[in-house]
Amino acid sequence: MPDVDGRVAVVTGASRGIGLAIARRLVQDGWRVCVTARTPETLAAAAEELNAVAKDPGGGAAHDLGGAAKERAGGAAHDLGGAAKERGGGATEPAGSAAQDLGGGAANVPGSGAAPGSGNADRAIAVAGKADDPAHQAEAVARTMAAYGRLDLLVNNTGINPVYGPMLSLDPAAIRKIFEVNVFASLGWLRQAYDAWLGEHGGAVVNVASIAGLQPSEGLGAYAVSKAALIHLTRQLAIELAPGIRVNAVAPAVVRTEFARKLYEGHEEALSKRYPLGRLGVPDDVAGAVAYLASPDAAWVTGQTLVLDGGLTQSGQL
Ligand SMILES: NC(=O)c1ccc[n+]([C@@H]2O[C@H](COP(=O)([O-])OP(=O)(O)OC[C@H]3O[C@@H](n4cnc5c(N)ncnc54)[C@H](OP(=O)(O)O)[C@@H]3O)[C@@H](O)[C@H]2O)c1
Repeated sequence: MPDVDGRVAVVTGASRGIGLAIARRLVQDGWRVCVTARTPETLAAAAEELNAVAKDPGGGAAHDLGGAAKERAGGAAHDLGGAAKERGGGATEPAGSAAQDLGGGAANVPGSGAAPGSGNADRAIAVAGKADDPAHQAEAVARTMAAYGRLDLLVNNTGINPVYGPMLSLDPAAIRKIFEVNVFASLGWLRQAYDAWLGEHGGAVVNVASIAGLQPSEGLGAYAVSKAALIHLTRQLAIELAPGIRVNAVAPAVVRTEFARKLYEGHEEALSKRYPLGRLGVPDDVAGAVAYLASPDAAWVTGQTLVLDGGLTQSGQL
């Protein structure tokens, strides 16, 4: 395994699903991580689980994390059917959650933080807030630097899809919100990470895109266009930030998470048949690829989007 021991990552949208799997894999590989999401309670639980993984990287906690954390509630923010078809940005916020009140500076998750400057800092800290809130971005990066003193990797994993339907039927405000979270926030996080560490010391960025960003996708238009923008942003930044900072992306097909549940629930078997490898993705399929792109094994890889789709895009079945 390439030596990443002691390196530090910020993983956004990491209280469940793909982000949590990425954080878990990074911790298992020796990274220290700062995880973010809106809901403080589930985020704190995720950080607790990650610290348990750190104490026993090959042990039970790591396996339990996959099951329990993947199934956590809260997927309403990404509901692709029913309410999610309604217009408006409201579906992107957890209903009645204290997270709505979190400003940047107040966005600390009790019990999940490392002592500032401590050599014995936990392997995972958590900072709650909205991914597209610049104050939250600044706070999370500042707390990461205070806890660990460096920031080698930024994983822009947070993504939303609160509206569904043809582009011209969508509320422009909802489309704008999708771009705020899926595209502009990624740039905002990078700006903070760049100023704090990456600009001077170098490192890596991995953006979590989607195969929807590679070709038009019925009903998912606004999301698809935002992911296409994220893929191109990845390529642009790779050129602009080389040689010190490598910037890559991953583009998964359907992965079994809360976000995608409506896309496969009730017809998973039939859907799986369209995938040459015979199944949908699981969060660990994405985590392994991100860990590779973040590692020294990928030292000569930048500007790439690694498609993770069980062969779907090659099959003519899309
Ligand atoms: N699952 C798939 O099939 C699939 C396929 C291709 C690409 N992707 C991409 O993979 C990424 C992760 O998706 P997932 O399937 O793992 O989703 P998920 O299981 O719903 O997890 C989303 C995570 O992001 C957090 N989050 C959501 N909105 C946020 C916001 N506005 N600000 C801060 N945190 C936020 C959630 O916690 P809170 O709700 O508490 O904030 C949660 O931790 C997304 O970029 C998605 O577009 C997913």
